[in-house]
Amino acid sequence: MNQHLLFDRIDEPGLNTIPVYEKRGGYGAMRRALAMPPAAIIEEIKQSSLRGRGGAGFQMGQKASFLPQGEMAKYLVCNADESEPGTFKDRELMQKCPHMLIEGIVITTFGTGIHHAFIYIRGEYQLQAQILEAAIAEAEAAGYLGENILGSGHSLKLVLHRGAGAYICGEETGLLDSLEGKRGNPRLKPPFPAIEGLYAGPTLVNNVETLSTVPTIINMGGAEYAKIGTEGSAGTKLISVSGDVQRPGNYEIELGIPSREIIYGLCGGPRPGREVKMWFPGGSSSPVLLAEDLDLPYDFDTLAKAGSMLGSGAIIVVDDSHSALEVARKVTKFYSHESCGKCVPCREGTNWTHKMFARIESGEATPMDLDIVASVQNQIMGNCLCVLGDAMAMPIASIVAKFRAELEAEIEAARERANALPLATLPQAIPVGAH
Ligand SMILES: Cc1cc2nc3c(=O)[nH]c(=O)nc-3n(C[C@H](O)[C@H](O)[C@H](O)COP(=O)(O)O)c2cc1C
Repeated sequence: MNQHLLFDRIDEPGLNTIPVYEKRGGYGAMRRALAMPPAAIIEEIKQSSLRGRGGAGFQMGQKASFLPQGEMAKYLVCNADESEPGTFKDRELMQKCPHMLIEGIVITTFGTGIHHAFIYIRGEYQLQAQILEAAIAEAEAAGYLGENILGSGHSLKLVLHRGAGAYICGEETGLLDSLEGKRGNPRLKPPFPAIEGLYAGPTLVNNVETLSTVPTIINMGGAEYAKIGTEGSAGTKLISVSGDVQRPGNYEIELGIPSREIIYGLCGGPRPGREVKMWFPGGSSSPVLLAEDLDLPYDFDTLAKAGSMLGSGAIIVVDDSHSALEVARKVTKFYSHESCGKCVPCREGTNWTHKMFARIESGEATPMDLDIVASVQNQIMGNCLCVLGDAMAMPIASIVAKFRAELEAEIEAARERANALPLATLPQAIPVGAH
């Protein structure tokens, strides 16, 4: 069963305005929530088991409860940077139903005692920023934002901030630095933002989709929401499907449906005559899966057990008209360009890996280089300031492991093209690690 909670009649004309949003019950959850004890709101979110929709999949209720109690300057930051390649679901939500996000923000800030909130939106989302600006002004005029919202005693200033287009500014601490007016570089963690975040104050960072789900949780009740999806992956998820499928786009699915139902059922599969060669289940940072994995249920735990991850819910399908080398080159080009350079394993590792794939293409490589590439990915993973380095190392390690034979054939063919010595004439390679 595919329930539509966030995308329910999402294309209704005028849904970006309060009158149309309210006609279908919009801001009803906010009215209800403002009459509840704040702690009860967080309890509902906890009961819903809602996992963050931005990439890491951390439970929202748990993260909110890490914030210190009491009166102090605390912040909520909505991550609308949407920079993970293949992800474009937050754009549609903000463009078509901005008040659902604003309503989620008001409810969450009331539950956590926060009076200052920011939406950090990626620079390229100019239209969505304009729509959000208009929606914020409309909500202020209606008394849903500002001082003493609907007489509840809760006040909230919501500010929209436009980024300048950098992948690292989607990483929560890079985002906070950027929001403070600095260069967007990740911070060493701990302390985590919930303890020391924006302007050194406790800060809750959540994704657009995560916060937009909060009104539904209040309307349904957390326990009811938790019944949708699977035990470890409650609810519905917006997924962005791109690449070699006949009907790419954003879809709302119940977590746990077979991945094949998404790629073939909803999206029509690859063009006739083509086969799925590999697919990224959660954006370009996720280790690739193969056609044989298509029957896996699409949920956080199953994909993690299969050695990959659900990430931001961006499925990128690659058919058999593409080479593994071409995919690896594109992935490494992106991450080497976007590495902020603050830490060595990421700065050097992403650039070096990209150059290694160029070396394969130009006919200078030998199969031993694949061993070195694999070994370097292992040295990047877990050793960076943030997971940008891992975000390249994970898919690249999976491509090298799963398409080894094809890459070796590419090496041989490229050597032939470049008139390099045939591999068989070279001395035996010494395996990596053998001294
Ligand atoms: C390099 C990098 C880029 C990221 N980009 C985004 C992004 O564009 N949007 C987002 O919501 N989370 C992104 N994240 C994850 C955030 O750091 C953070 O986990 C998330 O905003 C928390 O919200 P959630 O718990 O609601 O998912 C990124 C993480 C990394 C390491």
